[in-house]
Amino acid sequence: EEIEKGGFDHFMLKEIFEQPTVMKDVMRGRVRLDDGLVRLGGIEDYLEQIKGARRIVICACGTSWHAGLIGEYLIEEFARISVEVDYASEFRYRNPILDKNDVVIVISQSGETADTLAALRLAKEKGATVIGICNVVGSTIARETHCGMYTHAGPEIGVASTKAFTAQVIVLYLLALALSKGRTLDDHEIELYLRELSAVPDKVGKILDLNDQILAIARSYKDSKNCLYLGRGFNFPVALEGALKLKEISYIHAEGYPAAEMKHGPIALIDEDMPVVFIANCDATYTKILSNIEEVRSRKGKVIAIANEGDEDIGVLADHVLYIPSAAGPVTPLLNVIPLQILSYHIATLRNCNVDRPRNLAKSVTVE
Ligand code: G6P
Repeated sequence: EEIEKGGFDHFMLKEIFEQPTVMKDVMRGRVRLDDGLVRLGGIEDYLEQIKGARRIVICACGTSWHAGLIGEYLIEEFARISVEVDYASEFRYRNPILDKNDVVIVISQSGETADTLAALRLAKEKGATVIGICNVVGSTIARETHCGMYTHAGPEIGVASTKAFTAQVIVLYLLALALSKGRTLDDHEIELYLRELSAVPDKVGKILDLNDQILAIARSYKDSKNCLYLGRGFNFPVALEGALKLKEISYIHAEGYPAAEMKHGPIALIDEDMPVVFIANCDATYTKILSNIEEVRSRKGKVIAIANEGDEDIGVLADHVLYIPSAAGPVTPLLNVIPLQILSYHIATLRNCNVDRPRNLAKSVTVE
C-alpha cells in the first residue's frame, strides 16, 4: 500500500496532487487546439440528437452531483440548452416528467451507485436518451447507458472524491462546448474556451505549491465546530463541494451557500468562532463578494478568501488569502476547488481523522 501511495501519506493527498496529470489525460485526444475541435468519440452518434434535446436532466449523488451542478451552468452558458440537476435518489421517486425529447446525463465515479443506476433505468424506460459520465471502465452504469464518456482519472482510492470530480467537470465542459458548435458559439469562441481549459493543468500545478500555506491556515481552524463556504455562479457548486469535503473527512459541520443567500440565514450563525471560506475571484460579482466579506468581518467572523493573484484589495479585508492564477469564469471551478480539497485534507489529518476511510462512508454506495 505504501508503494501505491507513491510517497504521499494518504491516497487522498496523492490523488489531489495527481490532478494536473489527470486533467491532461481527460483532454488527451479530445481537444484539438489549432482549429477548436472537440472530439467525444463515445457520444458522437448521439451528438445531433443531444443538440436538439428539449432539455437535459443531470442525475447523480454526492460529489458527482456537484459536478452536475457545474455542468448545468456550463451547458446553459455555452449551449443555451435548459438543464435541470437532480439527486438521483429524488428523481427516481417522483415520477419525473420525461420522454424521448429529453436527454438524461448520469454522472458516477464508480458507475455502481444504486440510486444513480435506478435513475438511469427509469429514464430509459420513459424513452429518454441516457448519457453516462463514469470513471470505472465497464461499470454497470457505463454499460447500461446509451452512450457516454469516461473520465479517465485512474483508480480513485480515497473515499472523498477529488481527481474524479475535476475530471467530471472537464468532461462536462467539453460536452458543453461540443453542444455549442455550429449553434451558439462560433469556432473562434470555442477555440478560446479550449485554450483556457488547456491552461488549467499548469495553473493547478501552481495552486498545489500553496500546500504549506494552506497547512498553516488549517492549523488555525482545526478545532472549529462549524465552517461556511460561499461562492457565486460557476463557483456556487464549488462552495458546496468544499463544505462536503470538510464534513466527509474532518467531521466538522460545514455548509456551502450561494454568497448572496448568506443574508437569508447563515449570517445569523456568524461570530468569532465561525470561519467563512469565500471564493472571491475577480469577476462580475467580485464587488458583491467583497461586501459579503465586510458583513462577515463586522460580525467578527474569520475570513479565508480564495482570490486572484494581483488582487490587493482583498488582503485588507480577509484574515487569510490564498492567491490563485486568474482564468476565464467557466474554468474557475477547476482551480478554486483545489485549495478547498487541500484545506479539508490538512484539517482532517491535524484532527487525526482517517482521511482515506472516513467513518460511516463508503466509496461506492451500492445499496439504497
Ligand atoms: C459516495 C462517495 C462519494 C461519491 C458518491 C457518489 O457517497 O463517498 O465520494 O461522490 O458516493 O458516488 P459515484 O461513484 O456515483 O460518483
